[in-house]
Amino acid sequence: MEFSLREYRDSDYVVVREVYATGFREHGSSIFIAVLQRLWVQVVLLATFLGLLVLFGSPLSATLGVFGVLLVVRVSVQCLLEQGVRLGLSEDLQDIRASYMRPGQVARFWVAEARGRIVGTVAILPCVEEKGAWELKRITVLKRWRGRGIAKALCHTALEFVARRGVKRVVLFTSMAQVDAHKLYDSLGFKKEREFVWPSLPAKLVNFLVYKYAYGVGV
Ligand SMILES: CC(C)(COP(=O)(O)OP(=O)(O)OC[C@H]1O[C@@H](n2cnc3c(N)ncnc32)[C@H](O)[C@@H]1OP(=O)(O)O)[C@@H](O)C(=O)NCCC(=O)NCCS
Repeated sequence: MEFSLREYRDSDYVVVREVYATGFREHGSSIFIAVLQRLWVQVVLLATFLGLLVLFGSPLSATLGVFGVLLVVRVSVQCLLEQGVRLGLSEDLQDIRASYMRPGQVARFWVAEARGRIVGTVAILPCVEEKGAWELKRITVLKRWRGRGIAKALCHTALEFVARRGVKRVVLFTSMAQVDAHKLYDSLGFKKEREFVWPSLPAKLVNFLVYKYAYGVGV
């Protein structure tokens, strides 16, 4: 095997946060495409084109105007992603030792290493939203190391860890943008249970869906 798994150490802190942020940021294009598929966005683009055409009588100005709107949308999506990154970094990843390794606490954070570098992460801890269930979190593998079974090995490690502790149910939250991750969860035996629009105004405007997946350990 060209990679190995081990538990998180304090010296991993900076790299682990970078791996998370990089994985999160890469969904900008897929969210942008989802936004463009909204009818009201298409109406705004058409209205911009026609409005500028009537105003300036120039198809070139109208086209440039549409590109301007597209640029604003793309930058807004990236700003939203940055907010998401900041949120994640200020939650459990703010103090990984306190979140996962407090004395007496049963939770874990693992990293995958290849050629001496951290290339992937996974974490598991009791779920705040659902009593009795555990939550799989922070699943990311660096782009150039994907497709080699690293995420699957990380998730198996976490699922075996909770199975040994008699946990019967593991859940995770993902979004419509994380398409590769859905394939991973399907292949692990997770089932999509619920979908809901992320409760924020920008998310509502673009109908940004969050999915809850669940897995029955040893069932
Ligand atoms: C999702 C992610 C972690 C997968 O990592 P990975 O190491 O490439 O996944 P693996 O190689 O272990 O693949 C596991 C399974 O998922 C499937 N899979 C993963 N990515 C896939 C893709 N792009 N296309 C098709 N199948 C894919 C594999 O075929 C495999 O299934 P199999 O064992 O039945 O063949 C990685 O793409 C990633 O980090 N994405 C960005 C961050 C992210 O979205 N994280 C999820 C947060 S909810």
